[in-house]
Amino acid sequence: MEANKRLNGTIALITGGVSGIGRATVELFIQEGASVVVADIDEKGGLQLQEKWSGSCIFKRTDVTLEEDVKELMKFVGKKHGRLDCLFNNAGASGAHGNFEEIETSEFFRTMTLVLGSSFMTIKHAIPLMKPQGCGTIINNASVAGLFAGYAGHAYSTAKGGLIQLTKSAATELAQYGIRVNCICPGGIATPLWGRSFDLLDDALDSSTLGVAKALANAQPIQRSGLPIDVAKAALWLASEDSSFVTGQSIVVDGGATVGKSWKEFNKAVKSIAIKSMPKTELIKAVLGIKRGR
Ligand SMILES: NC(=O)c1ccc[n+]([C@@H]2O[C@H](COP(=O)([O-])OP(=O)(O)OC[C@H]3O[C@@H](n4cnc5c(N)ncnc54)[C@H](O)[C@@H]3O)[C@@H](O)[C@H]2O)c1
Repeated sequence: MEANKRLNGTIALITGGVSGIGRATVELFIQEGASVVVADIDEKGGLQLQEKWSGSCIFKRTDVTLEEDVKELMKFVGKKHGRLDCLFNNAGASGAHGNFEEIETSEFFRTMTLVLGSSFMTIKHAIPLMKPQGCGTIINNASVAGLFAGYAGHAYSTAKGGLIQLTKSAATELAQYGIRVNCICPGGIATPLWGRSFDLLDDALDSSTLGVAKALANAQPIQRSGLPIDVAKAALWLASEDSSFVTGQSIVVDGGATVGKSWKEFNKAVKSIAIKSMPKTELIKAVLGIKRGR
């Protein structure tokens, strides 16, 4: 054990750990000294990951939308390690797309179960492992779509908003047992999630992340796409003792996407109105209109 590693000797459980943000977090946590259980529906990818990190990573096939699978998973973690220091609820997908009239109600609820309900179930069934320890950290992977409308579909955004609230609610109950609960709200991160939403598979899916990275490069003040490691580093901080006085919080990792327009951009819009020599009251109304319409 190396003393300078931030998760030395800890046991972490990461759902959706085979791909994208989950995978980057699995690998970073292992490098920081954790033993990681990866729970995912992708059996082939999970076994490859287990082989790559043999001795530090165990894969357990789990569909997080099924409570029986979640119960089995926690039993597995208990048997294998006897404790659980960090649970990262990360498994997810973009889910039902389209306008209200186009979304099947059953699809809406499927998305709610995957993006929100699954975290309720993993938290519920992880508590019996964490409570007797008197410590633990739970991290939910939410989204900027849970904070503001317009970043994703109705079902996904609603579920992520619920996940942010679930985080706060759980934090208030679990602090007395030494369990901290926080969430991360990523912005646009170049992962296969985007390609999956267009039903891409295999090589097309793998190469899609490059296109996504290019497409997202100018979508936020920091002029590059978000990368899985950006979120993994926030998860590492939340999982470590460095954040020991932090609970119930949403950490936004979005390159500034949600902070608003730059003053320069706003000023340009104001000037273009002023040039038209509006009467003063009309100008004020127009400026306020811009602010509201943002
Ligand atoms: N990529 C982004 O721009 C972005 C932005 C904000 C939030 N997020 C969130 O980050 C999380 C990870 O997404 P990603 O971008 O790394 O996507 P990804 O598609 O690369 O990875 C998702 C992983 O979840 C697994 N998974 C899906 N359904 C599952 C189920 N029912 N049970 C178990 N595992 C399941 C997949 O097999 C995959 O390994 C998601 O919760 C997503 O909503 C992503």
